[in-house]
Amino acid sequence: MELLVDILILLKNVAVAFLLSWINFFIPRRCKCVKGEIVLVTGAASGMGCDMILEFAKLGAITVAWDVNSHGLEDTKQLVEAVGGKCYTFVCDVSDRKQVKQVADQVRRQVGDVSILVNNAGVVFGKKLLELTDEEIERTMGVNLMAQIWTTKEFLPSMLENNHGHVVNMGSSAGLVGLSQLVDYSTSKFGVVGFTQTLNYELHFSGHDGVATTLVCPSFVKTGMFAGCKMEYPLILPDLEQHPTVMRIMQAILTNQTEIYLPRMVYPMVALKHVIPVAAMKEVIRFFRAHKFMEPFSRRKNMDDLQINTEE
Ligand SMILES: NC(=O)c1ccc[n+]([C@@H]2O[C@H](COP(=O)([O-])OP(=O)(O)OC[C@H]3O[C@@H](n4cnc5c(N)ncnc54)[C@H](O)[C@@H]3O)[C@@H](O)[C@H]2O)c1
Repeated sequence: MELLVDILILLKNVAVAFLLSWINFFIPRRCKCVKGEIVLVTGAASGMGCDMILEFAKLGAITVAWDVNSHGLEDTKQLVEAVGGKCYTFVCDVSDRKQVKQVADQVRRQVGDVSILVNNAGVVFGKKLLELTDEEIERTMGVNLMAQIWTTKEFLPSMLENNHGHVVNMGSSAGLVGLSQLVDYSTSKFGVVGFTQTLNYELHFSGHDGVATTLVCPSFVKTGMFAGCKMEYPLILPDLEQHPTVMRIMQAILTNQTEIYLPRMVYPMVALKHVIPVAAMKEVIRFFRAHKFMEPFSRRKNMDDLQINTEE
Protein backbone atom coordinates (compact mmCIF):
# COMPACT_ATOMS: atom_id res chain seq x y z
CA MET A 1 0.00 0.00 0.00
CA GLU A 2 2.83 2.37 1.00
CA LEU A 3 4.60 1.59 -2.29
CA LEU A 4 1.43 2.38 -4.26
CA VAL A 5 1.06 5.75 -2.53
CA ASP A 6 4.74 6.52 -3.19
CA ILE A 7 4.34 5.60 -6.87
CA LEU A 8 1.27 7.86 -7.17
CA ILE A 9 3.19 10.75 -5.55
CA LEU A 10 6.10 10.09 -7.92
CA LEU A 11 3.80 10.15 -10.95
CA LYS A 12 2.23 13.41 -9.81
CA ASN A 13 5.65 15.03 -9.21
CA VAL A 14 7.00 13.81 -12.54
CA ALA A 15 3.90 15.18 -14.33
CA VAL A 16 4.38 18.57 -12.61
CA ALA A 17 8.09 18.59 -13.58
CA PHE A 18 7.19 17.84 -17.23
CA LEU A 19 4.52 20.54 -17.22
CA LEU A 20 6.91 23.15 -15.78
CA SER A 21 9.61 22.29 -18.27
CA TRP A 22 7.15 22.57 -21.20
CA ILE A 23 5.95 25.92 -19.86
CA ASN A 24 9.58 27.08 -19.63
CA PHE A 25 10.17 25.87 -23.18
CA PHE A 26 7.36 28.00 -24.62
CA ILE A 27 7.53 30.89 -22.16
CA PRO A 28 11.22 31.40 -21.33
CA ARG A 29 12.01 32.31 -17.74
CA ARG A 30 12.95 35.90 -16.94
CA CYS A 31 16.66 36.61 -17.02
CA LYS A 32 18.26 37.10 -13.62
CA CYS A 33 20.14 40.28 -12.79
CA VAL A 34 23.93 39.87 -12.59
CA LYS A 35 24.75 43.50 -11.81
CA GLY A 36 27.41 43.59 -9.09
CA GLU A 37 27.89 39.79 -9.13
CA ILE A 38 31.50 38.60 -9.24
CA VAL A 39 31.81 36.42 -12.34
CA LEU A 40 34.95 34.36 -12.92
CA VAL A 41 35.56 32.86 -16.35
CA THR A 42 38.47 30.47 -16.98
CA GLY A 43 40.02 30.41 -20.43
CA ALA A 44 38.93 34.02 -20.86
CA ALA A 45 41.82 35.15 -23.06
CA SER A 46 40.14 34.11 -26.31
CA GLY A 47 37.15 32.51 -28.00
CA MET A 48 33.92 31.96 -26.12
CA GLY A 49 35.48 32.74 -22.73
CA CYS A 50 36.44 36.25 -23.80
CA ASP A 51 33.06 36.79 -25.44
CA MET A 52 31.20 35.61 -22.32
CA ILE A 53 33.16 37.86 -19.99
CA LEU A 54 32.38 40.81 -22.23
CA GLU A 55 28.65 40.03 -22.12
CA PHE A 56 28.72 39.73 -18.32
CA ALA A 57 30.57 43.06 -18.10
CA LYS A 58 27.94 44.73 -20.31
CA LEU A 59 25.33 43.52 -17.79
CA GLY A 60 27.18 45.22 -14.94
CA ALA A 61 28.95 42.20 -13.44
CA ILE A 62 32.43 42.51 -11.94
CA THR A 63 34.50 40.18 -14.08
CA VAL A 64 37.51 38.03 -13.24
CA ALA A 65 39.41 36.49 -16.15
CA TRP A 66 41.75 33.52 -15.77
CA ASP A 67 43.98 32.10 -18.48
CA VAL A 68 47.53 30.91 -19.18
CA ASN A 69 47.76 33.40 -22.01
CA SER A 70 48.78 36.72 -20.41
CA HIS A 71 48.66 38.72 -23.68
CA GLY A 72 45.17 37.47 -24.43
CA LEU A 73 44.09 38.41 -20.90
CA GLU A 74 45.32 41.95 -21.50
CA ASP A 75 43.21 42.12 -24.68
CA THR A 76 40.16 40.83 -22.77
CA LYS A 77 40.68 43.46 -20.05
CA GLN A 78 40.85 46.22 -22.68
CA LEU A 79 37.69 44.99 -24.39
CA VAL A 80 35.85 44.94 -21.05
CA GLU A 81 37.09 48.42 -20.16
CA ALA A 82 36.01 49.69 -23.58
CA VAL A 83 32.41 48.83 -22.67
CA GLY A 84 32.79 50.53 -19.29
CA GLY A 85 33.24 47.31 -17.33
CA LYS A 86 35.67 46.17 -14.64
CA CYS A 87 37.91 43.19 -15.30
CA TYR A 88 40.50 41.64 -12.98
CA THR A 89 42.92 39.36 -14.78
CA PHE A 90 44.98 36.52 -13.32
CA VAL A 91 47.41 34.22 -15.07
CA CYS A 92 46.54 30.74 -13.85
CA ASP A 93 47.10 27.27 -15.20
CA VAL A 94 43.81 25.76 -14.11
CA SER A 95 45.13 22.21 -14.42
CA ASP A 96 47.54 22.92 -11.56
CA ARG A 97 45.63 22.31 -8.31
CA LYS A 98 48.06 24.29 -6.14
CA GLN A 99 48.03 27.26 -8.50
CA VAL A 100 44.22 27.24 -8.54
CA LYS A 101 44.22 27.41 -4.72
CA GLN A 102 46.74 30.27 -4.62
CA VAL A 103 45.08 32.35 -7.33
CA ALA A 104 41.61 31.71 -5.83
CA ASP A 105 42.90 33.12 -2.52
CA GLN A 106 44.20 36.16 -4.40
CA VAL A 107 40.79 36.65 -6.04
CA ARG A 108 38.99 36.42 -2.67
CA ARG A 109 41.38 38.99 -1.17
CA GLN A 110 41.46 41.43 -4.11
CA VAL A 111 37.96 41.10 -5.54
CA GLY A 112 35.67 39.15 -3.19
CA ASP A 113 33.60 35.95 -3.25
CA VAL A 114 32.88 34.64 -6.72
CA SER A 115 29.16 34.05 -7.20
CA ILE A 116 29.19 32.90 -10.84
CA LEU A 117 31.95 30.52 -11.92
CA VAL A 118 32.26 29.70 -15.62
CA ASN A 119 34.60 26.75 -16.20
CA ASN A 120 35.41 27.34 -19.84
CA ALA A 121 39.16 26.67 -20.32
CA GLY A 122 39.82 23.82 -22.70
CA VAL A 123 42.47 22.21 -24.88
CA VAL A 124 42.36 19.77 -27.77
CA PHE A 125 45.22 17.85 -29.40
CA GLY A 126 43.17 16.07 -32.08
CA LYS A 127 45.26 12.90 -32.24
CA LYS A 128 44.44 9.21 -32.10
CA LEU A 129 44.94 7.56 -28.71
CA LEU A 130 48.26 5.91 -29.54
CA GLU A 131 49.65 9.09 -31.12
CA LEU A 132 49.06 11.09 -27.94
CA THR A 133 51.90 11.39 -25.46
CA ASP A 134 51.12 10.64 -21.82
CA GLU A 135 51.67 14.34 -21.03
CA GLU A 136 49.13 15.38 -23.67
CA ILE A 137 46.54 13.02 -22.22
CA GLU A 138 47.20 14.34 -18.71
CA ARG A 139 46.98 17.89 -20.03
CA THR A 140 43.59 17.25 -21.64
CA MET A 141 42.18 15.65 -18.49
CA GLY A 142 43.79 18.31 -16.29
CA VAL A 143 42.51 21.37 -18.18
CA ASN A 144 39.17 20.08 -19.46
CA LEU A 145 37.99 18.09 -16.45
CA MET A 146 40.06 18.20 -13.26
CA ALA A 147 40.37 22.01 -13.38
CA GLN A 148 36.57 22.29 -13.20
CA ILE A 149 36.60 20.23 -10.02
CA TRP A 150 39.43 22.24 -8.42
CA THR A 151 37.85 25.64 -9.16
CA THR A 152 34.41 24.46 -8.03
CA LYS A 153 35.92 23.21 -4.74
CA GLU A 154 37.43 26.67 -4.26
CA PHE A 155 34.39 28.81 -4.99
CA LEU A 156 31.41 26.62 -4.06
CA PRO A 157 31.74 27.00 -0.25
CA SER A 158 30.85 30.72 -0.23
CA MET A 159 28.01 30.07 -2.70
CA LEU A 160 26.62 27.42 -0.34
CA GLU A 161 27.02 29.71 2.66
CA ASN A 162 24.92 32.38 0.94
CA ASN A 163 22.71 29.83 -0.85
CA HIS A 164 23.37 31.98 -3.90
CA GLY A 165 25.56 31.20 -6.87
CA HIS A 166 26.01 29.49 -10.19
CA VAL A 167 28.53 27.00 -11.59
CA VAL A 168 28.63 26.85 -15.39
CA ASN A 169 30.66 24.04 -16.94
CA MET A 170 31.68 23.91 -20.58
CA GLY A 171 31.18 20.39 -21.87
CA SER A 172 30.80 19.47 -25.52
CA SER A 173 28.61 17.38 -27.78
CA ALA A 174 31.76 15.21 -27.97
CA GLY A 175 31.06 14.49 -24.28
CA LEU A 176 27.64 13.12 -25.20
CA VAL A 177 28.47 11.21 -28.38
CA GLY A 178 32.18 10.40 -28.60
CA LEU A 179 34.25 11.16 -31.69
CA SER A 180 37.31 9.34 -33.01
CA GLN A 181 40.62 11.18 -32.97
CA LEU A 182 39.19 12.88 -29.89
CA VAL A 183 39.40 9.98 -27.44
CA ASP A 184 41.11 12.02 -24.71
CA TYR A 185 38.99 15.13 -25.37
CA SER A 186 35.71 13.19 -25.49
CA THR A 187 36.63 11.30 -22.32
CA SER A 188 37.34 14.56 -20.48
CA LYS A 189 34.06 16.06 -21.68
CA PHE A 190 32.07 12.93 -20.72
CA GLY A 191 33.61 13.57 -17.29
CA VAL A 192 32.37 17.16 -17.35
CA VAL A 193 28.86 15.94 -18.16
CA GLY A 194 28.96 13.49 -15.23
CA PHE A 195 30.51 16.02 -12.87
CA THR A 196 27.95 18.72 -13.63
CA GLN A 197 24.93 16.43 -13.53
CA THR A 198 25.91 14.87 -10.21
CA LEU A 199 26.85 18.23 -8.70
CA ASN A 200 23.39 19.45 -9.65
CA TYR A 201 21.74 16.47 -7.89
CA GLU A 202 23.97 16.91 -4.85
CA LEU A 203 23.06 20.60 -4.51
CA HIS A 204 19.36 19.87 -4.96
CA PHE A 205 19.20 17.00 -2.47
CA SER A 206 21.17 18.96 0.12
CA GLY A 207 18.64 21.81 -0.10
CA HIS A 208 20.89 24.35 -1.82
CA ASP A 209 18.43 25.35 -4.49
CA GLY A 210 19.88 28.88 -4.57
CA VAL A 211 23.01 27.53 -6.25
CA ALA A 212 22.41 26.72 -9.92
CA THR A 213 24.46 24.66 -12.35
CA THR A 214 24.48 24.84 -16.13
CA LEU A 215 26.04 22.25 -18.40
CA VAL A 216 26.88 23.65 -21.84
CA CYS A 217 27.37 21.17 -24.70
CA PRO A 218 27.92 22.81 -28.08
CA SER A 219 28.89 20.90 -31.19
CA PHE A 220 31.36 22.61 -33.53
CA VAL A 221 31.80 26.36 -32.91
CA LYS A 222 33.98 28.41 -35.26
CA THR A 223 36.35 29.83 -32.62
CA GLY A 224 39.57 28.46 -34.08
CA MET A 225 39.87 25.68 -31.52
CA PHE A 226 39.03 23.08 -34.18
CA ALA A 227 40.69 24.99 -37.02
CA GLY A 228 40.31 23.28 -40.38
CA CYS A 229 37.37 21.05 -39.35
CA LYS A 230 33.82 21.34 -40.63
CA MET A 231 30.57 19.41 -40.41
CA GLU A 232 29.57 17.38 -43.46
CA TYR A 233 25.86 18.28 -43.61
CA PRO A 234 25.58 21.81 -42.21
CA LEU A 235 21.88 21.88 -43.07
CA ILE A 236 21.26 19.15 -40.47
CA LEU A 237 24.09 19.85 -38.05
CA PRO A 238 25.28 23.41 -38.73
CA ASP A 239 28.68 24.85 -37.80
CA LEU A 240 28.02 27.37 -35.04
CA GLU A 241 29.18 30.99 -35.18
CA GLN A 242 30.92 32.14 -32.01
CA HIS A 243 28.90 35.19 -30.98
CA PRO A 244 25.35 33.87 -31.50
CA THR A 245 26.41 30.70 -29.65
CA VAL A 246 27.69 32.77 -26.72
CA MET A 247 24.42 34.71 -26.67
CA ARG A 248 22.46 31.43 -26.44
CA ILE A 249 24.76 30.27 -23.63
CA MET A 250 24.29 33.61 -21.84
CA GLN A 251 20.52 33.22 -22.09
CA ALA A 252 20.78 29.72 -20.60
CA ILE A 253 22.94 31.01 -17.73
CA LEU A 254 20.72 34.02 -17.03
CA THR A 255 17.60 31.84 -16.91
CA ASN A 256 19.28 29.15 -14.76
CA GLN A 257 18.82 26.51 -17.48
CA THR A 258 20.35 23.25 -16.21
CA GLU A 259 21.60 21.94 -19.55
CA ILE A 260 21.97 23.38 -23.01
CA TYR A 261 22.98 21.43 -26.11
CA LEU A 262 23.71 23.38 -29.29
CA PRO A 263 22.45 23.20 -31.97
CA ARG A 264 19.09 21.65 -31.07
CA MET A 265 19.85 18.69 -33.36
CA VAL A 266 22.22 17.42 -30.63
CA TYR A 267 19.19 16.48 -28.44
CA PRO A 268 17.74 13.88 -30.85
CA MET A 269 21.28 12.60 -31.60
CA VAL A 270 21.84 11.91 -27.90
CA ALA A 271 18.40 10.33 -27.49
CA LEU A 272 19.03 8.19 -30.58
CA LYS A 273 22.34 6.97 -29.21
CA HIS A 274 20.57 5.56 -26.15
CA VAL A 275 17.84 3.70 -28.02
CA ILE A 276 19.42 2.29 -31.18
CA PRO A 277 22.01 -0.51 -31.37
CA VAL A 278 25.67 0.53 -31.28
CA ALA A 279 26.17 -0.73 -34.86
CA ALA A 280 23.27 1.48 -36.02
CA MET A 281 24.76 4.48 -34.21
CA LYS A 282 28.04 3.90 -36.05
CA GLU A 283 26.08 4.17 -39.32
CA VAL A 284 24.62 7.51 -38.17
CA ILE A 285 28.18 8.68 -37.35
CA ARG A 286 29.33 7.48 -40.79
CA PHE A 287 26.45 9.36 -42.46
CA PHE A 288 27.59 12.64 -40.85
CA ARG A 289 31.28 11.75 -41.61
CA ALA A 290 31.76 12.53 -37.93
CA HIS A 291 34.47 9.84 -37.79
CA LYS A 292 36.46 11.98 -40.24
CA PHE A 293 35.67 15.33 -38.59
CA MET A 294 39.16 15.72 -37.06
CA GLU A 295 41.15 14.67 -40.14
CA PRO A 296 41.79 18.20 -41.48
CA PHE A 297 42.54 19.49 -38.00
CA SER A 298 45.46 21.87 -38.06
CA ARG A 299 46.95 22.49 -34.68
CA ARG A 300 46.50 26.06 -33.55
CA LYS A 301 49.70 27.97 -33.26
CA ASN A 302 49.04 29.11 -29.72
CA MET A 303 48.73 25.49 -28.52
CA ASP A 304 52.50 25.63 -28.39
CA ASP A 305 52.26 28.46 -25.87
CA LEU A 306 50.38 26.26 -23.43
CA GLN A 307 53.69 24.83 -22.15
CA ILE A 308 53.25 21.19 -21.33
CA ASN A 309 55.39 20.81 -18.24
CA THR A 310 57.05 17.42 -18.30
CA GLU A 311 59.76 18.24 -15.80
CA GLU A 312 57.93 17.25 -12.58
N1 LIG B 1 35.08 25.49 -30.37
C1 LIG B 1 34.32 24.43 -30.36
O1 LIG B 1 33.93 23.86 -31.39
C2 LIG B 1 33.86 23.86 -29.03
C3 LIG B 1 32.82 22.92 -29.04
C4 LIG B 1 32.39 22.40 -27.84
C5 LIG B 1 32.98 22.80 -26.66
N2 LIG B 1 34.00 23.69 -26.68
C6 LIG B 1 34.61 24.06 -25.41
O2 LIG B 1 34.43 25.44 -25.18
C7 LIG B 1 35.48 25.94 -24.36
C8 LIG B 1 36.06 27.20 -24.99
O3 LIG B 1 36.64 26.86 -26.21
P1 LIG B 1 36.89 27.88 -27.42
O4 LIG B 1 36.34 27.22 -28.62
O5 LIG B 1 36.47 29.25 -27.05
O6 LIG B 1 38.49 27.74 -27.56
P2 LIG B 1 39.69 28.73 -27.26
O7 LIG B 1 40.92 27.94 -27.55
O8 LIG B 1 39.49 30.02 -27.95
O9 LIG B 1 39.59 28.99 -25.67
C9 LIG B 1 40.16 28.16 -24.72
C10 LIG B 1 40.91 29.02 -23.73
O10 LIG B 1 41.39 28.18 -22.67
C11 LIG B 1 42.68 28.64 -22.33
N3 LIG B 1 43.45 27.60 -21.65
C12 LIG B 1 44.00 26.49 -22.18
N4 LIG B 1 44.67 25.81 -21.24
C13 LIG B 1 44.53 26.49 -20.08
C14 LIG B 1 45.01 26.29 -18.77
N5 LIG B 1 45.76 25.25 -18.45
N6 LIG B 1 44.68 27.19 -17.81
C15 LIG B 1 43.93 28.28 -18.12
N7 LIG B 1 43.46 28.53 -19.36
C16 LIG B 1 43.76 27.65 -20.33
C17 LIG B 1 43.32 29.03 -23.66
O11 LIG B 1 44.45 29.89 -23.51
C18 LIG B 1 42.14 29.71 -24.34
O12 LIG B 1 42.12 31.10 -24.06
C19 LIG B 1 36.48 24.79 -24.21
O13 LIG B 1 36.27 24.15 -22.98
C20 LIG B 1 36.11 23.87 -25.35
O14 LIG B 1 36.47 22.54 -25.09
C21 LIG B 1 34.46 24.24 -27.84
